[in-house]
Amino acid sequence: REAGCLSIIVLGASGDLAKKKTFPALFHLFLQGFLQEEDVHIFGYARTKLSDDDLRARIRGYLQKGVSAEQEDVLSRFLQLIKYVSGSYDSADGFQLLNKAISEHEISKNSHPGISRRLFYLALPPSVYPSVCRMIRLYCTNTSDLGGWTRIVVEKPFGKDLNSAEDLSAQLGELFTEEQLYRIDHYLGKELVQNLLVLRFANRLFLPLWNRDNIDNIQIVFREDFGTEGRGGYFDEYGIIRDIIQNHLLQVLCLVAMEKPVSLKPEHIRDEKVKVLQSVLPIKHEEVVLGQYEGYKDDQTVSDSSNTPTFATVVLRIHNERWEGVPFILKAGKALDNRKAEIRIQFKDVPGDIFKCKKQGRNEFVIRLQPLEAMYMKLTLKKPGLEMSTIQSELDLSYGLRYQDVKIPEAYERLILDTIRGDQQHFVRRDELKVAWQIFTPLLHSIDNGELKPIAYKPGSRGPEEADELLARAGYVQTHGYIWIPPTLE
Ligand code: BG6
Repeated sequence: REAGCLSIIVLGASGDLAKKKTFPALFHLFLQGFLQEEDVHIFGYARTKLSDDDLRARIRGYLQKGVSAEQEDVLSRFLQLIKYVSGSYDSADGFQLLNKAISEHEISKNSHPGISRRLFYLALPPSVYPSVCRMIRLYCTNTSDLGGWTRIVVEKPFGKDLNSAEDLSAQLGELFTEEQLYRIDHYLGKELVQNLLVLRFANRLFLPLWNRDNIDNIQIVFREDFGTEGRGGYFDEYGIIRDIIQNHLLQVLCLVAMEKPVSLKPEHIRDEKVKVLQSVLPIKHEEVVLGQYEGYKDDQTVSDSSNTPTFATVVLRIHNERWEGVPFILKAGKALDNRKAEIRIQFKDVPGDIFKCKKQGRNEFVIRLQPLEAMYMKLTLKKPGLEMSTIQSELDLSYGLRYQDVKIPEAYERLILDTIRGDQQHFVRRDELKVAWQIFTPLLHSIDNGELKPIAYKPGSRGPEEADELLARAGYVQTHGYIWIPPTLE
C-alpha cells in the first residue's frame, strides 16, 4: 500500500452524483478497509453554504437505508472523516480555503509527514471543468518535495461533438498531464465488462471462434424501463447517443472487438482500443433508426419541438481483417419494456445442416452485464427423451448461483479505488475519446440540424418497429419459442 496522507476532495458535494454515487462508493471502500482512518480525509466542496454536519446528515440520510445495525458504527466513523468547504467554482478564495483545509489535515495526520496524495473528484457539470481545474492547478495541487500526487477524476459528458470535446481536452491538457486525468466511463467498472479481456484471451475455446469466419453479427444493447424523469433538461441537450452509445456501448465494443494487447499494461490495452476505433467506417444513415418515446416532450424542461432521440439503433462496421462484414449493432433506449444491458454474439448457421437446426435458432453467446450478471451460450441439443428431435437449450453461468458468497462491487467503487492506486486501465484516454467523437459527430450533426428525425414509440414498448427491421436486415436472426430464464437460488 502506498504511504502518505490521502485527501479525497469531492467537488459538487451537494449534488446528485455525489450523493448517489461518489459518497456511497467511498463508504463501501471504507467499509471494506480500503480507506484507512489514520491517513484518509474526505472534503466536500460546493457553492451551497453548509456546515460539516449538514453535509454528513445529507449523506447519512442517503446511506442509512443500506446499512445494517452492525455497520452503524462504521458509518458514523466514515462520516467523521468528511469536512465541508464552501466556495465558488471560479474564484481564488474558495480554493485557497480548500487548500488550507487539506494542508492542515496533512499536517495533523502525520504517519508519513510531508507526503501528500490529493484526489479531486469533479461531480460537476462539464461547463465548469476548465475553471475548476485551473483553480485546483493554481491553489490546490500537491507541492510536497517528499512525494505524492494530484489526480483529477472527471465524468462525461466530455463535450458535445468532436470540436467541443477536443477543446475541453486541450484546456484540461494545459493544466494537467494525461497521467493525472482519469476520465470515468462507469461501464468500464462493471464486473462483466472487466471480465471481457480475460474471457477472450485466457480461453483457448474462444480464440478461433472470435472472428468473421464464425460470427454473423454482434449486438450491444442497453435498455431502461424508465424515461428521463427529473433529468429532461440535461438529456434534451444530449440525447441517447451522447448519453449512452458514444461512451458506454462503444467502450464495450472496444473490449469485444479489439486485438489482444501486448500486455496488461494500461497503455497497451488502450492502444488496442484506439486501433479498433480507428477502423470503424463512417455510419450510414440507412443503418440508423432513431426513436423518441411518446410523452417525452411533456417534461417542462424539454423543448416542445425537441428532435432529441431517446432511442437509437446504430450499425457500426469495422474495417479490419477480423471483422469485415460483421455488423456491430449498438442499441440503447429509455422508457422501454425492461431494464437490461447485454452483449449478444450470434454465430453463423451450421454449414451442411443435417438436423434442420435453422428453425431452432442459431448459436448465440450472451453476456448479460446487468441485472443478474450471467453468461449463457444458446445451443441446439437433442431433446431429452425417446424421440430424435432437437431443441434449443443453453450452457449457463449465472453469477448469482455460481458465486453465492461474492458481492459484486459497484462500478464506482472499483474505479475510485483504481484512481487511488494510479491504475488507468479502466479509464478513457484522450486519443480514445477523440476517435469516439469522430465516429459519431457526423451523425449527431445530422440529428441536431433536423436532417434525421426520431420515430415516436410507446413508452413500455420495444422501441420503434423499424429498429427490429434494421436488426433483421443486418442479419440478426431472432429465436422463436425460446427464452432464457435467469435461474434463481431455490
Ligand atoms: C449514465 C446515463 O451514464 O448511465 C444515464 O447518463 C443512465 O442516462 C445510466 O441511466 C445507466 O447506468 P447503469 O449503470 O444503471 O446502467
